[in-house]
Amino acid sequence: MDHASKSQRRRIVIAAGACAAGGGALFLSQQHHATRSWPHGSPLAVDLASLVAGKLKTVEWQGKPVWLLRRSEHMLAALAKPNNDLADPDSKASLQPDACQNPLRSLRPEIFVAIGLCTHQGCTPALNGDHFLCPCHTSKYDLAGRVFKVGPAQANLVIPAYRFDGENTITIGADA
Ligand code: FES
Repeated sequence: MDHASKSQRRRIVIAAGACAAGGGALFLSQQHHATRSWPHGSPLAVDLASLVAGKLKTVEWQGKPVWLLRRSEHMLAALAKPNNDLADPDSKASLQPDACQNPLRSLRPEIFVAIGLCTHQGCTPALNGDHFLCPCHTSKYDLAGRVFKVGPAQANLVIPAYRFDGENTITIGADA
């Protein structure tokens, strides 16, 4: 077995252990990292017409919470500022569709989509002003889902496949 295969197998074994301990979300997250494929499947259309700027909407998709946030002008201005406290500012070690590997981690600047599970052990962070805060061990993410160095999580929030099918319709699970 070559080094890469061993490394991948080790990650999956570690994830399986975490799953047995109740970390099912972590298991899914690690699986995606092992394959470098962002989550796809079971297309779910969501109407964004009633999504108010600054408010977070959560839908269930494949048994997981998916966040939809219409970022306000104020939120976008905060994200435009340089930030040296991020663990993976360019999302090189994080999981998102290729089209979302940009500073805002999104297809459209104002609409942020992410799986709302902390990449540490799968708790659900909460929107807390200009960031998301995980209640379990205080990992912190900016409004593009980029994790801060402080706290145990070191990967950005996972972004699933999604596409826009109109001004106010988004389909989760399908590539753009
Ligand atoms: S599960 Fe979020 S910080 Fe541990």
